[in-house]
Amino acid sequence: MSALILHRVDELRAHAEAARRAGRRVGVVLTMGALHEGHLSLVEHAARIADEIILTVFVNPTQFGPNEDLAKYPRTLERDIELATKAGATCVFAPDAKEMYPGADATRVVVSKVSEPLCGRFRPGHFAGVATVVTKFFAILGPSVALFGRKDYQQLQVIRTLVSDLLLPIEVIGLPTVRDADGLARSSRNVYLSSEERQRALAIPRALSRAFEVFTGGERDRAKILELVSEELRKGNLDVQYAELLDADDLSSFPTETLPDRALLAIAAYCGSTRLIDNIVLGEDPSPIGLP
Ligand code: PAF
Repeated sequence: MSALILHRVDELRAHAEAARRAGRRVGVVLTMGALHEGHLSLVEHAARIADEIILTVFVNPTQFGPNEDLAKYPRTLERDIELATKAGATCVFAPDAKEMYPGADATRVVVSKVSEPLCGRFRPGHFAGVATVVTKFFAILGPSVALFGRKDYQQLQVIRTLVSDLLLPIEVIGLPTVRDADGLARSSRNVYLSSEERQRALAIPRALSRAFEVFTGGERDRAKILELVSEELRKGNLDVQYAELLDADDLSSFPTETLPDRALLAIAAYCGSTRLIDNIVLGEDPSPIGLP
């Protein structure tokens, strides 16, 4: 049986309210659709810890810049519903833009500091768009638990900060990045890559793995690690936006050149016209290409 499909905010609100009243724990997985294994791992995990599993599919216009891929973002709703149902979703919410942004749309939720480095420098307004739509979904649904992938690590930290600052009674769970066998992180945007570009994109997980390798071996010199990362990225002939080592909690810069035993390494790079992001928390995450 397919998950219940809803398109209207009032219907979804009533559905979530009824579930809560019936004592069912509501878990949410917020997505822009074009579901892949990464999303499905979130739904499967949600199905183990909650009773009502609501997956949203909404390509949120306010998080795209004027020259970004809003118009061409892959839209595969029928397939998404099928996959989400199989993974354990009980309800799929797929609103249109008017439903989510009626009226004046004069309000933005801005999470300062943690939104500012990394993607924040290259995608002005992006995290305000994300934080605004996520806040709307939380307000409609009143979930007990919300699950996000660690591939969008900065987004996850923005949402954690939002939930904590606004005292929302929601448990936020970040789950590991799902990767193809060769290490490439699953992303809805991978469909844009030609096979030649996909090969070159492997420089990203290889760069993360190189950092993993030396960090595991005891290297703590920030500049040395970043040099090795750049060396690997150059092999893919990518247009690198950033490769940075930051505090894994608040995404602040380190005060010294010697890293602590846990640090976020985050990368964004264009491969052709496709922007890819990936990351590893050194001292916490496994190697992206399965190194011991
Ligand atoms: O990660 C995404 O797909 C989006 O940024 C999210 C969280 C669904 C908000 O639109």
